[in-house]
Amino acid sequence: MGNRIRVSVLLASLLALRGAAFAQTQEGETKTDVQAELQRLREELQKYSAEVKQLQETVAKSTAKSDDVTTQGRVIYRSTCEACHGRLGDGKGPGSRPLNPQPRDFTTGNYKWRSTPTGSLPLDSDLFRTVSEGVPGTAMPSWKKLLTREERYAVVQYVKLFSPRFKDEPIDEPIAIADPPPRTPERLALGRTAYEKNKCGDCHGTLGKGDGPSAPTLKDDKGVKIEAFDFTSGVFRGGSSDADVYRTFTTGVAGTPMPQYEDPLTEEQRWALVQYVKSLLEDRGWFGYVFRKPTDPW
Ligand code: HEC
Ligand code: HEC
Repeated sequence: MGNRIRVSVLLASLLALRGAAFAQTQEGETKTDVQAELQRLREELQKYSAEVKQLQETVAKSTAKSDDVTTQGRVIYRSTCEACHGRLGDGKGPGSRPLNPQPRDFTTGNYKWRSTPTGSLPLDSDLFRTVSEGVPGTAMPSWKKLLTREERYAVVQYVKLFSPRFKDEPIDEPIAIADPPPRTPERLALGRTAYEKNKCGDCHGTLGKGDGPSAPTLKDDKGVKIEAFDFTSGVFRGGSSDADVYRTFTTGVAGTPMPQYEDPLTEEQRWALVQYVKSLLEDRGWFGYVFRKPTDPW
């Protein structure tokens, strides 16, 4: 834009000078003087155009990388994600209808699986992780084997374009996650007490099967019925390692009734809860593994 203004200013001054040159002719100056002046101006214009061209090339080079990534991201999005997430990123793709949970609406900027605190946008690395690992137990596939690292990175950049929040809003620092403490009977007992005290069972059920008394009434922020996670179902959606569950638990699951527990619980209580909810799956023993439900993801 700046270049265009500079070019217009130059052209305007050229025209003015040219007019002045003709005016001078009328006042008796020789034709050769005018021609010499015009030649000089022409040369200056050429020099200036060369400079503008060079400037334009520099600008083009500096943005070439991000343009390439966006184009690549768009191509991947259209061919692999659009069927569910929709052309406009609103989660209303042609394949979205029967799905529960519904594909994410990218226009809101709300993401369930983040390393950043409640209310914050996610980091690129959070989105990259979800796209790579998928969301087990839902329709969201893992793209680790189907797309290269660069392709996954490009599609993440494209997905971010659907929400204007990524342009204006600062992203909070990710929460700190210490090394997971070892499992001890005391810690498991503390987890069990915290589970009862904090009424996790109201939604998740006393035995963590997702069948608590409030479970049938739960809806997400779009008003769609949502299930309280069944801890005995196998894989955690936000990742199954102790650190993953701790992160999900501490940053909250945005857009769902799952409350945020960073404030009310101490770090020790949160680690204890992680170990306790994970133990609910293991409680099924070999019998549970052999006679699993056909819907179980493992
Ligand atoms: C078969 C349907 C389907 C396809 C194809 C699909 N997704 Fe998803 N995606 C989903 C569903 C369903 C969810 C919601 C999961 C949930 O809420 O637990 C989701 C969630 C997400 C999320 C949000 C995670 C969060 O933290 O909230 C991202 C990011 C995402 N998908 C990216 C992609 C990208 C990128 C592609 C293409 C490479 C893609 N998805 C292809 C169904 C799909
Ligand atoms: C008001 C109901 C409600 C209460 C109370 C509640 N949760 Fe949840 N929780 C949910 C819902 C709904 C989800 C599913 C979110 C999703 O998958 O989209 C969930 C998801 C989770 C997850 C994520 C599992 C995954 O897929 O990665 C964990 C962990 C969890 N809850 C633990 C707890 C613990 C521990 C407590 C008590 C301290 C608790 N919740 C209290 C409703 C609740």
